[in-house]
Amino acid sequence: MSQHLTIVEHPLVQHKLTIMRQKETSTAVFRQLLREISQLLAYEITRELPMTTRTIDTPLQPMEAPVLDGKKLALISILRAGNGLLDGVLELVPSARVGFVGLYRDEETLKPVQYYFKVPEGLDDRLVIAVDPMLATGNSSAAAVDMLKKAGATNIRFLCLLAAPEGVARMKEAHPDVPIVTAALDERLNEKGYIVPGLGDAGDRMFGTK
Ligand code: URA
Repeated sequence: MSQHLTIVEHPLVQHKLTIMRQKETSTAVFRQLLREISQLLAYEITRELPMTTRTIDTPLQPMEAPVLDGKKLALISILRAGNGLLDGVLELVPSARVGFVGLYRDEETLKPVQYYFKVPEGLDDRLVIAVDPMLATGNSSAAAVDMLKKAGATNIRFLCLLAAPEGVARMKEAHPDVPIVTAALDERLNEKGYIVPGLGDAGDRMFGTK
């Protein structure tokens, strides 16, 4: 992907996102819409996957038909909210390998600390798509991408539902080689680090924890 930031302005994505933002939207509907949007965003982020051809037989004759080239994708969910995007993307790319990165914020240093890291082998040969619905400060996203690079990944893309300008800037500074695909770029972060207008805490909204 050539652009650092791609905003998917497809009407279906925008309509679904509006319903997700509304505070009265139920957990069940929120999760279902996230799954649907994740597939539309995945369509965009996988647009330029390398292709090759394979000889197949249709009922009428042989043909050289297009198929995906190279090793299977690696999808990396940044816990816990990343799992809401992961499910839908995995439905679209069922043979993808899956990894998880768990980070929490140290309340004293405010820095992200890793508590879980399990990723597929051969990251260096795969397109790696990291998923996390909310790109807010960008601190945990940048840290997760650092870890993926340390584990060998060289071709990484970042998929999110909503981004704040602060998060996009942080990622651009730390990882200019990692294209971001999102459904919307919101106004800003508030004093608590929430994206505004946003949709609240994505994890709470998808898991009903608040
Ligand atoms: N994480 C969320 O879930 N929501 C925000 O607005 C920011 C970070």
